[in-house]
Amino acid sequence: MSQALQTISSEHRSMWQVSVVLEELCKQCADPTQKPDAELFEQILDYIEQYIERVHQPKEEAYLYRAVAERTAEGAAMIEQFRREHAQSPEIVASLRRQLHRLVKHFPEGREQFHADLESYIALLRTHIKREESELFPLARKVLNDVDWDEIDTAFADSHDPQFGEESKAKFRALLSRIVNEAPAPIGFGVAREGRKDPEAHPVLLSVQDLSSHYGRIQALRGVTIEVRQGQLVALVGANGAGKTTLLRAISGVQKVSGGAISFAGQDITHARPDQRVRLGICQVPEGRQVFGPLTVEDNLRLGAYTRKDADAIADDMEQMYGMFPILKQKFRQAAGTLSGGQQQMLAMARALMGRPKLLLLDEPSMGLAPLLIQEIFNAIIALREQGKTVFLVEQNAHQALSIADRAYVIETGETVISGTGPELLDNEQVKSAYLGI
Ligand SMILES: Nc1ncnc2c1ncn2[C@@H]1O[C@H](COP(=O)(O)OP(=O)(O)OP(=O)(O)O)[C@@H](O)[C@H]1O
Ligand SMILES: [Mg+2]
Repeated sequence: MSQALQTISSEHRSMWQVSVVLEELCKQCADPTQKPDAELFEQILDYIEQYIERVHQPKEEAYLYRAVAERTAEGAAMIEQFRREHAQSPEIVASLRRQLHRLVKHFPEGREQFHADLESYIALLRTHIKREESELFPLARKVLNDVDWDEIDTAFADSHDPQFGEESKAKFRALLSRIVNEAPAPIGFGVAREGRKDPEAHPVLLSVQDLSSHYGRIQALRGVTIEVRQGQLVALVGANGAGKTTLLRAISGVQKVSGGAISFAGQDITHARPDQRVRLGICQVPEGRQVFGPLTVEDNLRLGAYTRKDADAIADDMEQMYGMFPILKQKFRQAAGTLSGGQQQMLAMARALMGRPKLLLLDEPSMGLAPLLIQEIFNAIIALREQGKTVFLVEQNAHQALSIADRAYVIETGETVISGTGPELLDNEQVKSAYLGI
């Protein structure tokens, strides 16, 4: 994929996160007794003003917009609308800031107007992101030639650019991370943690002790120790090739281990066969989805329940999956292979859940997906957590994974090197510089 589109996509992801935090604050504003969290609001407005308006928008306009508008009439019309939305943003943000100041001073005077304006701004922001990803990007891919892409990508890759370069971006990342860390709910995903019993007090479900594993003479795991308690969401983050997938495969029993031990629900399973582990309740959703392409969505889900015989409960679970992923219901007779990447990921997760696993292993579920879909996948994972399911999540999206995790581990060249609660890791200097880009 083009460097520029990747950059824009990742900026969209950040903005989407900010919009989720903003939404959380907006909900609080609906309550006439709650004074707005002015400081967090100010930080968000700063971020939008400084980053989105001064860095993201100008660069996108100068390169991607310009090129697309030059190539097609359809593009020119589309771009005009996008430019208008960009141009409106500073005035809206300034007005929100003025309203916020007045509101804080004369609370609750002006609350309703502020709430309404904020709500429509969030909607505008999101529609803009969605349409860029779903309409502008595909059109750009279609109409731009290699020379165009060269110019655009070069501009986006120029890390020395005083206005758009790495240094200026670093400042904004720090701001983003503050916003996300101070958000009311974890990353402001809108899910309150209250009401969930403290999973730290639950019994240990999975314990991996000093595990090692080899591919021939290459040692991929060299002393991995992790613990997953019942009802916890535990995240594992690490660079490419660190051994994440190998660890999941070892837990599933499809990767041989050369040392250490794995126990599950108090039982030693270090040498158990994969099918025995499935029966015990361990289910892995592999990297890169792997649904059965020629089979329908519905048949894929049925296959997920192959170890079960309770037909009524299976039908109930199927409905539950359709509730969690409505798109699967719409497409239940369609061949799984015709679904988009994000939909296939949802299907892969739903299929795994149909087996009512006691432990769900997810290998990079957000990989290669657009920001909106990433959000949907994370929302589903949060829903699982809220239902008390036990999930071990491997992710490249360290920020989002750590934000929703009860516990987390960092793996480096086959070793678990840092562990702690999600918030602890988000705040850890080493993690910040290596995995969060701060
Ligand atoms: N089939 C294989 N044969 C030989 N070496 C392998 C094999 N699969 C993985 N490795 C090596 O084992 C190490 C760990 O790989 P693994 O796939 O577990 O990493 P990962 O953390 O999942 O990475 P990614 O983020 O790319 O998915 C890497 O050095 C990799 O090159
Ligand atoms: Mg992997």
